[in-house]
Order: sequence, then C-alpha cells, then structure tokens
Amino acid sequence: MNIIHKRSWELPESAATPEDVFWNRRRFLAGMAGGSLALGAGMFTRPAFAEDDPSAKLYPVPRNEAYTLGRDVTPESVTSVYNNFYEFGSHKQIARAAQALPIRPWSVVLDGMIDNPQTIGIDDLLAKMPLEERLYRHRCVEAWSMAVPWSGFQLSELVKLAGPKSGAKYLRFETFKNPDVASGQKQSWYPWPYVEGLTMEEATNELTFMVTGVYGKPLAKQFGAPLRLALPWKYGFKSIKSIVRISFTDKRPVSFWEEIQASEYGFWANVNPKVPHPRWSQASERLLGTDERRDTLLYNGYEEQVAYLYKDMKNEKLFM
Ligand code: MTE
Repeated sequence: MNIIHKRSWELPESAATPEDVFWNRRRFLAGMAGGSLALGAGMFTRPAFAEDDPSAKLYPVPRNEAYTLGRDVTPESVTSVYNNFYEFGSHKQIARAAQALPIRPWSVVLDGMIDNPQTIGIDDLLAKMPLEERLYRHRCVEAWSMAVPWSGFQLSELVKLAGPKSGAKYLRFETFKNPDVASGQKQSWYPWPYVEGLTMEEATNELTFMVTGVYGKPLAKQFGAPLRLALPWKYGFKSIKSIVRISFTDKRPVSFWEEIQASEYGFWANVNPKVPHPRWSQASERLLGTDERRDTLLYNGYEEQVAYLYKDMKNEKLFM
C-alpha cells in the first residue's frame, strides 16, 4: 500500500526501487521455486505452514469446481514471499517475521447484534464448517495480481452460526493486536488493529470466503493464519488477515486504510479498470510470477456474481 503523506519507510517496494531492478528481482525470486531465499540479513526457508498446526490433518479439502481462473495458479514459491501484512513491516518480505505469530490457541469472538454471541476456538470452528478449495483471482490496489487455491468456507455459514438480528447491517472484522510479536504495531501512526468491513449482503454473497488454508495445506502465517477473508472482486486490502473478532453492527465500519487515507482507499474498493487510483492507473495489472501484463476486469471478472449488490448505489464511491 502507498499513502500520500510519504515517509521513506512507507514507500511500496515498487516505488522505492527503479522498475527494472524491482522486476528483475521479482524474476529472480520467481525462479527460486522451493529453495531458500535470502531475505534481509539472514537466510529464510519458506515455511509451508506451522509444523505443529493441529489442522494439518484436514487438508487437502475437496475443490469446488465452480470457480475457475482463466489463468494459471501462481506458484506458492512466489506468493508466499511477497505479502502485504503491515503488522510485520511495510514491505513485501514479511514472511520470516510473520513466523513469530502464535496461532494456537486462537479464538474468534462473534459479537454485536446477533442471537448467538460466542468466543469460538479456531479448531472448533473448523470442525463445524464445510471446508472446500476454491481457485480465486486476487487483485491488489497496487496493480499486481495473483491466482490462489484457497481452502476455507463460505462466510455465509459463519453468519448463520452467529444468527444476526434484523437490525445488523454490517460486519466489522478485526485483526489481532500484539506489538510484542508484530513489530509493525509499534508504529503508532497506524490505527491498529487492522479493521475491515462488509455489508450484510456482501458478507452473505456466495464468493465471500473465509480462508483457513492454501495450496492444500493450513494457511501459512504470512497469508494471515489461521483465518482471513478472500473477496476476489475487491482490491486486496479488504481481505483482512489473522481475524480475532467479527462484530455485527448497524454502523458502517471505518476500515484501517480508510482511516489513514479515505480519499484513496474507501469502504467499497471494488475493482474497476476505468476508475484510476488518484495516483496511478488501474487499467492493467501485472501477474506475479510471470510479470505478464493483463487488462484488469470489472469486479476482477466476478461481475456476474456481485454486480447486483451495487445496482442501486449511484451516489456511493463504489470503485475506490
Ligand atoms: N490484513 C492485515 N491484518 N494486515 C495487512 O497489512 N494487507 C492487505 C490484506 N490484508 C493486510 C491485510 C493487503 S494491502 C493485501 S493486498 C492483502 O492482504 C495481501 O494478501 P497476500 O499477502 O496473501 O497477497
């Protein structure tokens, strides 16, 4: 992510590095599938997932063939070393630092305007939910994209478990806050914890997916273990990682990036090639792994599933 009041340490890697150097390095990383990568001062061996993860026995889960990509899956060797997770640093190489996050015990609080408020352990939640694999495209607001085999369950199943009251119009998601392990959270100019929000209609759309695994294994920590969102028709920043609380409310939540820079990162953040970010075009995207340039699609190609959600919202800034 890139915000307008630039401090040197907040520049995205692509802006801080000349393009050709940056993309040559990306090619170098992509070429190192399965090996060890030099990250920062030391060597970092890419972890598939936490070895003591008790959910390992659940994977792989059956694939739901309804979701197709129209492109190749991006290799794990690429996606697992190029992540946005500001809790662990404002650059892409946070994978090693993220291993410090303890993911057991881990519980998720469901609260607010619901009939069944509860705190549920992640393994109890996994046991209750119908797990499946879906291939989804993932488009970052920074104009790179990837295609990933997420495992998890439809958020609508968890909404059913919570039992929303009739006045509940939004879901507010919150990430953990633990500056002792997540050094990014010591940076007090960010409004920690990371927060995101959805309308009830968005939350219960068939595409809205709670991710618990990837590449047929439990979710690695840099992807937002043990529980994150995947919203393939929205810019990636809406897909909040390492969720600890989901609150049902009648007030529209103000998300992390909206609070930092509302003129650039809004509540809706639906992908649209015709609506540029205030400082760069969204017309095309660069596929991680191959560096191929592709035209960006309206709603990232998921128009059929989601356009109805927005048809009567002429006065909302739906695409930023
Ligand atoms: N969630 C938390 N808690 N913290 C973050 O910094 N970054 C967001 C999103 N979720 C972020 C987050 C952004 S900007 C993107 S593009 C995606 O996570 C990146 O997901 P990935 O690393 O799996 O590609």
